[in-house]
Amino acid sequence: MVCLGNICRSPLAEGILKDKAKKAGLNWQIDSAGTNGYHTGEPPHQLSQKVAKMNGIDICDQRARQFVKEDFDHYDKIYAMADDVIEDMRRIARSHYDPSKVDLLLNELYPGKNMPVPDPWYGPEPGYHKVYELIDRACEQIIKKATNVLLTKGQSQVSKPE
Ligand code: 4NP
Repeated sequence: MVCLGNICRSPLAEGILKDKAKKAGLNWQIDSAGTNGYHTGEPPHQLSQKVAKMNGIDICDQRARQFVKEDFDHYDKIYAMADDVIEDMRRIARSHYDPSKVDLLLNELYPGKNMPVPDPWYGPEPGYHKVYELIDRACEQIIKKATNVLLTKGQSQVSKPE
């Protein structure tokens, strides 16, 4: 899950997808990063933390890190929050850039529409709630798709949540 600062949108996406994957019994490695590195080492924005907590998700232990080209080696799928993020990823990853691994997160919800998750960074709290809802619905779709595929394959990789 990649955004610009790794303090507003992508920490929510990481926390939400981790929560849903765990509940679905999916043993996925999920992480987030930002392309600009301005906030490296910082916890998520306090409004992202607050909105996550209101929805039962604790993201306060996350720390921002910058996206690196090796992320293309370590991850099967890389979701960007917006087009400018994809451009930055392309610039950072250079020859490591693999377009088959990259998509805009909201294309899971609105296929082919290429909509961004709006950046709530400059605005007040309601923007964070809107972003939470969009990310939550997109992540729900990711889990639904994955579990359908695995169930079709005979549940070999789906285990019951604890
Ligand atoms: P994010 O929001 O990409 O959702 O974490 C931003 C946070 C900080 C900045 C830009 C976007 N910034 O330029 O400092």
